[in-house]
Amino acid sequence: MPRFIIEGGNRLSGEVEIQGAKNSVLPVLAATVLCDGECVIHNCPNISDVDTSIKILTYLGCECTHIGDTVTVDSSNMKNYNIPDDLMREMRSSVVFLGGILGRMRKAVISSPGGCELGPRPIDLHLSALEKLGCEVDEDHGLLYCTAYDGLKGCEINLSFPSVGSTENIILAAATANGTTVIHNAAKEPEISDLADFLNSAGARIYGCGSDTVIIHGVTRLGAVEHSIIPDRICAVTYMAAAAVTGGKITLKNTMPSHLVSVISVFREAGCKVVPMGRNILFEAPEKLQRVPTVRTLVYPGFPTDAGPLLITMLALSNGTSVFVENIFENRFKYIDELKRFGAKIKTEGRVAIIEGTDGFSAAPCECTDLRGGAALVIAALAANGITKIDKIYHIKRGYEDLPYVLNKLGADIYEEE
Ligand code: EPZ
Repeated sequence: MPRFIIEGGNRLSGEVEIQGAKNSVLPVLAATVLCDGECVIHNCPNISDVDTSIKILTYLGCECTHIGDTVTVDSSNMKNYNIPDDLMREMRSSVVFLGGILGRMRKAVISSPGGCELGPRPIDLHLSALEKLGCEVDEDHGLLYCTAYDGLKGCEINLSFPSVGSTENIILAAATANGTTVIHNAAKEPEISDLADFLNSAGARIYGCGSDTVIIHGVTRLGAVEHSIIPDRICAVTYMAAAAVTGGKITLKNTMPSHLVSVISVFREAGCKVVPMGRNILFEAPEKLQRVPTVRTLVYPGFPTDAGPLLITMLALSNGTSVFVENIFENRFKYIDELKRFGAKIKTEGRVAIIEGTDGFSAAPCECTDLRGGAALVIAALAANGITKIDKIYHIKRGYEDLPYVLNKLGADIYEEE
């Protein structure tokens, strides 16, 4: 199994180009099944979740090419409406194919999606919304048979929680439904606006993304479209945290500082200098990282849950005690046991982590438990004294494009060993 070998202690400096957003490209790829003609999607990151999406599209009968950072999808000959169990298990985002397949074929068969284990991740909100749109859902031997016998019909949907994936699935199913759908308490994440921009360029009529009320007027057909994926805000946080723990000074290129407002304010509280300049961010670590009394994760525009592991790793090297409260997922602290191997002093109780800053980490063998937890271990290893081996890096490859190449360009010492 491949692993990362990292020699810590190098101060990061230089420029880093931020890849396209994983959590945008996956629903956009799912949306291509609704479009007649060839969709050309630029700024697609080379990550294994994109490979899995392309496998799903190919299985469905779509023609796909992936050259550099451009993926093309032509769904004209789509014939299947089921997703094989092994592909469903590979990533959580396989579930957003449901809305698109239903919109196109009026039926879909899926099983439970996989993805990072962050506590229970049910899909009840997805299914009850699709039922309101006119889809019948039957479960048999772990398979979900979803059928819209009379087609999908627009309706009002009140989400009890602004779930990202549910909002995306509703938008996908409603885009070509009969009539108007209104989502109340919709998720406001930038990746949802990116999905709507893609669909609107293809002829959809979706309004209000970025607010908590999204209105979708169903249209009869969607056409070919060319689209560029927004930058990945969690990758930007990853490189900021990596620079912060190594005393570094870097420039993040191709970012959207407006998507990072809550994160930037926490990094500033920790003493970092963060200067947005158009689509770039100049970032400089302080002499000594400062504790941040309390950080709470919230839905967007609050502090993102995905940035939690990266921030906690940084705070573990600060000058005092910080408290981190995880409000989105029930069990997102699994990686903390691995982090403790480096000497991090962190206590967890339920959804709360109490982080006592320490002066330095020392290298330790460890393994990734999930995607962002894995990235947190890389950050710890960059700061640590000595050589660290990180196993189970397939988690990291789900969301980061060639991390060794990017970090080595900034002066790190990391390579992948087979
Ligand atoms: C998306 O997951 C992201 N994934 C996650 O990114 C991110 O952590 C999460 O949103 C929150 O921002 C993708 O976009 C591919 P949710 P998603 O539906 O859609 C509960 C990363 O590291 N819930 O907003 O699965 C759920 O259990 C990842 O890149 C239900 O109870 O998130 C969770 O507690 C990991 N029933 C909360 O809502 C449902 O039907 C948030 O889930 C759906 C969700």
